[in-house]
Amino acid sequence: MEKTRTRTMQNRVPTGIQGLDEILGGGLLRRSCVIISGGPGSGKTTLATQFLYSGLTDYKEPALYLTLTESPNEIKNNMKAYGWDLETAEKTGGLKIIDARPILLTSEGLITPNESLFRGEMLPFSHIARLILKEIRDIKAKRVIIDSITVLVLQYVNKFYIRQGLLGLVQALSSQDCTSLLLQETVGERNTIPLEWALAHGVISLSCDPKGGDTARAIQIVKMRGIKHGERVYAMEIREKGIVVHPKVTVLP
Ligand SMILES: Nc1ncnc2c1ncn2[C@@H]1O[C@H](COP(=O)(O)OP(=O)(O)O)[C@@H](O)[C@H]1O
Ligand SMILES: [Mg+2]
Repeated sequence: MEKTRTRTMQNRVPTGIQGLDEILGGGLLRRSCVIISGGPGSGKTTLATQFLYSGLTDYKEPALYLTLTESPNEIKNNMKAYGWDLETAEKTGGLKIIDARPILLTSEGLITPNESLFRGEMLPFSHIARLILKEIRDIKAKRVIIDSITVLVLQYVNKFYIRQGLLGLVQALSSQDCTSLLLQETVGERNTIPLEWALAHGVISLSCDPKGGDTARAIQIVKMRGIKHGERVYAMEIREKGIVVHPKVTVLP
């Protein structure tokens, strides 16, 4: 009995987020690709960085952060407010932040395509997958964040292309010895199930009720292949030192 239990836990990657590991029964599965979905300000970047920072500090696991939205400096500055020193982690070699924003700002304040990534074309999934695989191998990353896949998806109208591209990305990431969080930005799409959810191993949905109140923020594990997890919508807080989930406080969806 004890043996089975030990074997199961070895297969888990604790998120380091208080309450979330409890709902997950220990953590995420190794080599899984999990979508973190939610509206603006729902806590996606915070959750993902907390996961990554816990890996760096508690387990000495190298991490890769691919940003397609905020600049690396913005991320480092915002996360510093929680006490997470990404700057030092980057300097000491445990963390690599890759700036994969399709559009950059010039020193004169003008926008320009990121020519180091693509030349006048869209940013194909295959290109991103190749770039990530190279970096994962280089630093032996165990935790990976893509912030966000929405930027990749928005370039295409062809759903078949999106599906194949995302599937390729998920397969490429799962071929490595790492656990990946793919951030997904949602805006007012409460009644439709995004195509991306079918392709990932897991989906965690974050929400923030604009009316506020004590239970304004919530988290739900929509799916997690291979894991028996809590199925309710749980209260969540973003505190000074990061996210706290309350497994005993459920919220009506
Ligand atoms: N240092 C902090 N302490 C407490 N709450 C914070 C702190 N920094 C940001 N927040 C809260 O977290 C929210 C942003 O979370 P973020 O992870 O950036 O969301 P998302 O990536 O989903 O847009 C902010 O809107 C704010 O309410
Ligand atoms: Mg964000």
